[in-house]
Amino acid sequence: MIRVGVNGYGTIGKRVADAICVQPDMNLVGVAKTRPNYEAEIAIRNGYDLYAADPAQMGSFAEAGIDITGPVSDLVAASDVIVDATPSGIGEQNCKLYDAHSTKAILQGGEDADAAEMSFVSRANYDDVGDERTVRVVSCNTTGLTRLLAPLAERYGVETARVTLIRRGGDPGEIDRGPINDIVPDPTEIPSHHGPDVNTIFPEIDIETAGVKVPATLMHLHSVNITLEREPGAQRVHELLQNESRLFFIPEQAKIGGLGPLKEFARDTGRTRGDLWENCLWEESLTVAGTDLSLFQSIHQEADVVPENIDAIRALASEQSREESMRLTDETLGVGLESMFADSRRRAVRPAADD
Ligand SMILES: NC(=O)c1ccc[n+]([C@@H]2O[C@H](COP(=O)([O-])OP(=O)(O)OC[C@H]3O[C@@H](n4cnc5c(N)ncnc54)[C@H](OP(=O)(O)O)[C@@H]3O)[C@@H](O)[C@H]2O)c1
Repeated sequence: MIRVGVNGYGTIGKRVADAICVQPDMNLVGVAKTRPNYEAEIAIRNGYDLYAADPAQMGSFAEAGIDITGPVSDLVAASDVIVDATPSGIGEQNCKLYDAHSTKAILQGGEDADAAEMSFVSRANYDDVGDERTVRVVSCNTTGLTRLLAPLAERYGVETARVTLIRRGGDPGEIDRGPINDIVPDPTEIPSHHGPDVNTIFPEIDIETAGVKVPATLMHLHSVNITLEREPGAQRVHELLQNESRLFFIPEQAKIGGLGPLKEFARDTGRTRGDLWENCLWEESLTVAGTDLSLFQSIHQEADVVPENIDAIRALASEQSREESMRLTDETLGVGLESMFADSRRRAVRPAADD
């Protein structure tokens, strides 16, 4: 069993902690937070050992009646791998602590690329992880772009990729983010940092990205234009992408016309927190003309990096291959449209006739 600690129990950390608990080859040692709040209470009620990220704050947990197992250094010492899901910039500072205990670490996309030894997306470079002690699971947007580009680059070659990222202003819990009444080029310069970030995984791909921030918390929407090196035909591309476990086509007949209904669909099927771990591609948007391919895809920023964190743990601390790890992660989490429907049926109020 791989012993895993999660340092930083916010949007990403709490999802990764829950995902670790359903892996047959991993034990969650515990989670670390800086302060006692509702998330600390939930961690304890979930049965997770809670560690103090700031030892000076151990008293404030005691005052709030929340049991602390120890300082974060104890968590690091007891873990084979730490998933660091602290706010951007803190992960890099924490690396000294992980090094001191010879504990391998996974950083998140808010850290600079050079904070870790390599950037990681399961589908693209799981098998390249060797003796590294730190990897960085790239951001939600970069993960989504890389998952889409990987099969296309393998099968047809990618000459250029031009992507406009229409980004959510903040996560639902982020009360201080915006805009609340604007549409903001973010950054105003082109390219945005996402294209160069994809190049940390695929250095050879000519990719340019532009970012726009909008007053929404639901998901990101990517408008993707790719020129392939070889001509594919629309049906072939559809088949290729449909065979990727972490991409799903939103069926045209589902009449899901926006990100609101898409999240509602996820909630209706019983997905925990309404999470969408997959890239969600609009079926009718897929257009192929010669070597040019266009489509819309949506990325659930709070969720899509969760399967990648689980695979990154195995890449660092096991002998499992990419295929084995991705299959196990997908199976245990229930990734994919069919699993969503199966879950929905399991939770159905009225059993199906053949039950
Ligand atoms: N949210 C997204 O859309 C998203 C998507 C992909 C990647 N990421 C990346 O994932 C990382 C985490 O982002 P997030 O959205 O999960 O942030 P978040 O929701 O703010 O969660 C981070 C948590 O870490 C805790 N924390 C703060 N300082 C800490 C410290 N020194 N040690 C340990 N814990 C500390 C905070 O809780 P307490 O202060 O209460 O302990 C906070 O809840 C960032 O690199 C981000 O760029 C985020």
